[in-house]
Amino acid sequence: MGLKIDSVLIHGGTDGDLTTGAVNVPVYQTSTYKQDGLGKNRGWEYSRTGNPTRDALEKLIADLEKGSYGLAFASGLAAINTVLSLFKTGDRLVVSDNIYGGTFRILDNVFKNFGITYTIVDTSDADAVEKALGDDVKAVYVESPANPLLTVTDIEKIAKISHDHGKLLIVDNTFMTPYLQQPIVLGADIVIHSGTKYLGGHSDTVSGLAVVNDKALADRLYYLQNAIGGVLAPWDSFLMIRGIKTLGVRMDRHEKNANRIAEWLSGSGYVTKVYYPGLVSDPGYEIQKKQARGAGAMISFVLDEKYDYKVFFESLKLITLAESLGGVESLVCHPASMTHAAIPADIRKKVGIVDELIRFSVGIEDVEDLIADLEQAIKASEKKEA
Ligand SMILES: Cc1ncc(COP(=O)(O)O)c(C=O)c1O
Repeated sequence: MGLKIDSVLIHGGTDGDLTTGAVNVPVYQTSTYKQDGLGKNRGWEYSRTGNPTRDALEKLIADLEKGSYGLAFASGLAAINTVLSLFKTGDRLVVSDNIYGGTFRILDNVFKNFGITYTIVDTSDADAVEKALGDDVKAVYVESPANPLLTVTDIEKIAKISHDHGKLLIVDNTFMTPYLQQPIVLGADIVIHSGTKYLGGHSDTVSGLAVVNDKALADRLYYLQNAIGGVLAPWDSFLMIRGIKTLGVRMDRHEKNANRIAEWLSGSGYVTKVYYPGLVSDPGYEIQKKQARGAGAMISFVLDEKYDYKVFFESLKLITLAESLGGVESLVCHPASMTHAAIPADIRKKVGIVDELIRFSVGIEDVEDLIADLEQAIKASEKKEA
């Protein structure tokens, strides 16, 4: 039965415990499984290789992304590490010019040491992507909307270009979740998530996920998942399944609040720039509308130089200054010194990650309370005349 996404969120994957009928998949808190004789197991051998709670989450994320195979990892970066391990010395990746700082760090300081290199490209420019696709390029790696400038890449177009040149397309779908955007349907080969964010949704679990459609690719990734070992624990898998059940209602509210705040910020006179693909004035608006069901709830803005961003952060009362995003509570961060500090200052400046840039993960609190908090903190941060 072709269920709609709101039903898949509740009933996708294994939908409860097959042995007892418990409506929730139990936490199979076990590292190993009894074997009935040599070579005679009951489908489970060792929990790095497979665990029923993790398996339920893996099937659920595959259903949600409309892929065939899901994999769950101990963090988003463990998922990224495993996916990047598909490549070998001499391979090159073409990567979006604004991506999560940790993704840049693992490419620049880990995989580069093994001879796997990368070229940074503005992936919203399809011609620039095509030009970068030399013989040694094996994959294009995209975030859309990207962290932290919300740059939108036309996934369908980049998938076609990548495939025409025999390259894989990898999409980090963390900011959107499958509720809003399904990159596999748009042609991506591998979808990655930091499940820590909207999928978990409550800032209480660190996790990562990957989804693919192709059997050979899935087999290689399952092999790497077991060989590298960065798997998600049973309890965290349970928390992820539990969080995902409310993804739809949370995202609707997150987005409603984000739309209102983006409009308010734009007309406030307090900021010089608002990045949000839900604004008609945003350069990514039309493509976002075409490829996703909404614009999500991540907003970045540049505070006018009349205001001191350090004082702004310290003056917030309801909104929390913290790393991470996608939880029910509103979080702000300072990309230049926090999430994107691993990106060299010259690249940061070139792409627009300036010191005054503030990234806002809009929560599901009352939106008027959020606006009041933003406004009082901005006013409190006004620089005094010398
Ligand atoms: C877009 C994106 N991808 C991947 C990651 C890494 O995920 P994790 O922190 O779960 O390792 C993050 C973390 O902030 C992120 O924002």
